[in-house]
Amino acid sequence: MFSKILRPLTDLVRHILSKPDERGDLTSDLFRLKIRRKVRQLINDNNGFLIDVGCGEGLLCENLLIKQNPLKIVGIDTEHEMLKTANESFQRKKLYSLNFLRAHAQKLPFLNKSIDIAICINTFYNFYTKDDVIAALEEMERVCKKDGFIIFDVRNKINPFVYLSFKLVWLYDTQVTLNAYSLKELTTVLISKGLIIKETIPIGFPITMFAPIILVKAGYQ
Ligand SMILES: C[S@@+](CC[C@H](N)C(=O)[O-])C[C@H]1O[C@@H](n2cnc3c(N)ncnc32)[C@H](O)[C@@H]1O
Repeated sequence: MFSKILRPLTDLVRHILSKPDERGDLTSDLFRLKIRRKVRQLINDNNGFLIDVGCGEGLLCENLLIKQNPLKIVGIDTEHEMLKTANESFQRKKLYSLNFLRAHAQKLPFLNKSIDIAICINTFYNFYTKDDVIAALEEMERVCKKDGFIIFDVRNKINPFVYLSFKLVWLYDTQVTLNAYSLKELTTVLISKGLIIKETIPIGFPITMFAPIILVKAGYQ
């Protein structure tokens, strides 16, 4: 009942806060845009083979291809419709140096240590369980080269706004799963495999520990 009123309201806010040329895209909004921009900053002038896990309509891939140094990019998603939209949009924009693959984050179709940069943003919080997130991180670690790195974001449950809005999601959206985590919960698995946290970027609040979103870059050296 509540969601019938609140869902259109949250959609409207998201629409207003989206970048004009991304409006209407299912995965657009202000925070997601900020995350995509910060990812570019974290990649810096590194190049090589990059995978975007949970690529959706490919907004990060597009951003990287237009502004970044030469990268070979593969976008991965489970949803056929998302990949179809992404493919059509990339054909229209004549961005050909990119492939999309239908696969699960928890079973990446790549060889061990074959990827330079493995990214998964704006996606973990929609996974049903923490085990799904951990399995995806383990897969990203498996495929990532020793001199490569992994980037992902944490919707931080220590932030009261995130905590409450995720707990009360049933009030404004009955169709979506929202799960928040602490930074430690998600980084422990990588640290146990020998990675170090190279950088954390707070998004939405300047103090990392309390920021609603924390962007993480992890690597072996
Ligand atoms: C909110 S969108 C994020 C899109 C993109 N990363 C961005 O920042 O614009 C989340 C995407 O993750 C995909 N997804 C959900 N579960 C997945 C899984 N287990 N493996 C791969 N992709 C998944 C969904 O289909 C959806 O397109």
